[in-house]
Amino acid sequence: MAVVLHDDGVHKCIAFTELVQGEGVQANQFAISHNGYGMLLDPGGNLTYKHLLAEMANYFLPSHLKYVFASHQDPDIVASVNGWLLITDANILVAAEWERFIPHFCLKGATVGRMIPIPYEGMDIELGGSPLKLIPAHYLHTIGNFQVYDPISKILFSGDIGASLVSGEEAGGIWEDFDEFLTRGSGLGFHQHYMSGNKACRIWVDTVRKLDIEWIVPQHGASFKGKVMVNRFLDWFETLECGLDLL
Ligand SMILES: [Fe+2]
Ligand SMILES: [Fe+2]
Repeated sequence: MAVVLHDDGVHKCIAFTELVQGEGVQANQFAISHNGYGMLLDPGGNLTYKHLLAEMANYFLPSHLKYVFASHQDPDIVASVNGWLLITDANILVAAEWERFIPHFCLKGATVGRMIPIPYEGMDIELGGSPLKLIPAHYLHTIGNFQVYDPISKILFSGDIGASLVSGEEAGGIWEDFDEFLTRGSGLGFHQHYMSGNKACRIWVDTVRKLDIEWIVPQHGASFKGKVMVNRFLDWFETLECGLDLL
């Protein structure tokens, strides 16, 4: 079932939390629409493709899909890219570091003229007249890693940062108790294992503290809503030892 994160009639942000069935890791896919134009965020792979296509059509026409954003290169992020390229005119937004790896998911020639490489420092884009910011989060967990900040909804779509391992039904909710995220949601173990090191964490926290964030919404699991929880998450992540710190 789709979860409406924001809807003011013109601008919508939608989460799909229950499309992955079977052995694949639970993953959230997102759509942003503005004035009838749309963008998909981290649409996933074959497990989600046909379900997401059907859901997306409830919000905008496939012909109005302007962008497929890939926060990074993982299979749960963008392995379905060939399908989106075939049936829409969308451009693919992905880190410049991964631009020439994405064609390996595709038929020969499918990505020609369709890729928009995101520079190292990030960039601003517009969707149907609405601005969106692509925020760098390098080495969290991969080089060439970006997030989407939407200044209208004040949502930061944070990719793997803030991820937890819960059911799709629970992923549609919000964390009320931060310690539950760390323990039952495996948030502590996930970030210790998948994030590369505290220096990267601190650089990212410095970057996103400059944004007016009301909601951190990750690619796996439930989200962090309201200034208190957002700051609780940022304070925790800023001091987290992970990756190379623990090797
Ligand atoms: Fe990932
Ligand atoms: Fe992921």
